[in-house]
Amino acid sequence: MGICWSSSSPPHNPTSTPTNSTLSADTRAGTSSQSQRTSSSYTYTSSSTSTSTSTSTSTTTSRSYASSGNNSSSINNTNDSTKFSTTSSSSSGGQILENDNLRIFTFGELKAATRNFKADTVLGEGGFGKVYKGWLDTSSHSNSSRNNGASGSGSGSVIAVKKLNSESLQGIEEWQSEVTFLGRLSHPNLVKLLGYCLEETELLLVYEFMQKGSLENHLFGRGSAVQPLAWDIRLKIAIGAARGLAFLHTSDEKVIYRDFKASNILLDASYNAKISDFGLAKLGPSASQSHVTTRVMGTYGYAAPEYVATGHLYVKSDVYGFGVVLVELLTAQRALDPNRPSAQLSLTDWVKPYLSDRRKLKSIMDSRLEGKYPSKAAFRIAQLALKCLAPEHKQRPSMNEVLESLERIQAANEEPKLRSNRTVATRHVHHRSPLHPIRDK
Ligand SMILES: Nc1ncnc2c1ncn2[C@@H]1O[C@H](COP(=O)(O)OP(=O)(O)OP(=O)(O)O)[C@@H](O)[C@H]1O
Ligand SMILES: [Mg+2]
Repeated sequence: MGICWSSSSPPHNPTSTPTNSTLSADTRAGTSSQSQRTSSSYTYTSSSTSTSTSTSTSTTTSRSYASSGNNSSSINNTNDSTKFSTTSSSSSGGQILENDNLRIFTFGELKAATRNFKADTVLGEGGFGKVYKGWLDTSSHSNSSRNNGASGSGSGSVIAVKKLNSESLQGIEEWQSEVTFLGRLSHPNLVKLLGYCLEETELLLVYEFMQKGSLENHLFGRGSAVQPLAWDIRLKIAIGAARGLAFLHTSDEKVIYRDFKASNILLDASYNAKISDFGLAKLGPSASQSHVTTRVMGTYGYAAPEYVATGHLYVKSDVYGFGVVLVELLTAQRALDPNRPSAQLSLTDWVKPYLSDRRKLKSIMDSRLEGKYPSKAAFRIAQLALKCLAPEHKQRPSMNEVLESLERIQAANEEPKLRSNRTVATRHVHHRSPLHPIRDK
């Protein structure tokens, strides 16, 4: 999008390969999968009156961008926009809990769980810090782990531990927001926050472990370990993520997620999608009013144009991000990729004309699908993505409408398969049914 690289935006640095640029007010690094990481870090701050650039030497690639209006005060996540009312509600298999069921971990426990945060337990890294795979020995905390969902079968369970990087200035606010939101939101398509640790300068978050990692790794990761996702799996992931987002938007509290992107969609062993990272989430405004945020935060390429331009945040701003992810699922191209020719820098700007033409669409589909997808369904998804990407937030569908469309596309996809299975089953009954045993003559 033009907005990403406008005159007040950071200059493109050809020596780095930022793949997941984050709009934020500080060094909260929008980083990509480990495989895409380089060793430079750039942080940009831009306001209506000034632009400043600083370079540091962290081991991760990051590009952060903060656009603030005249009022440059930072978002205080302890304000009303992150406070739930005390009522609980239930919607589509999810609920807002009266109280969180979070367990408070000691730093020592998490140190032991991750073998002293050993390098070989690192699952990935984002703006908050590194994420480690850990093992919780349930026998040692059987009393304190009740209700937290951490107890696996047998004597332990696998967890993911996110540890605040001391350089992350945004950490405390995001940490607080994560605990406030995820601690009380419960839905099969939201990643489960099991607990946290707060000891002196150590801030950590403990999640259920998601075996298949992030959608970002699957779509853009390279190497033999990364298997391309089959069409049915892509559809399943889109539906799961849509369910999670629809739950947030329709819950009594109307949560605006604000950072919908492939790296925040995590996958369990069966490719069930769960949304993670509520560091930027806000409680939604009433009716069609928007939040006016003093700082625009999110990730370039995914953030809705009205939000980037004005700071006005709507529930439908999330729908735009969902549309971008739909296009990523079709094309396996990143929302923003400076390694592409400049005309193709922004995925949505580049592919929009292709989404409305069935034949053109074929030319931008992920080649790793090897043509194994129903072209009608792909076209319907492309059209749905276009609706989500409408420049006017009011023109975009609600997440419930998006979910329904995706489910219809999936059902239409399944029908021919079911029919052919039924034929097989019928044949099976005719020839092998024990109700009609073939008597030995
Ligand atoms: N619960 C989890 N289970 C398994 N892997 C996880 C889990 N949480 C995070 N990860 C891994 O860690 C990586 C980094 O996650 P993290 O949320 O910190 O950063 P990010 O989403 O890439 O960027 P950002 O800071 O902008 O959200 C993810 O891409 C994923 O591979
Ligand atoms: Mg994340």
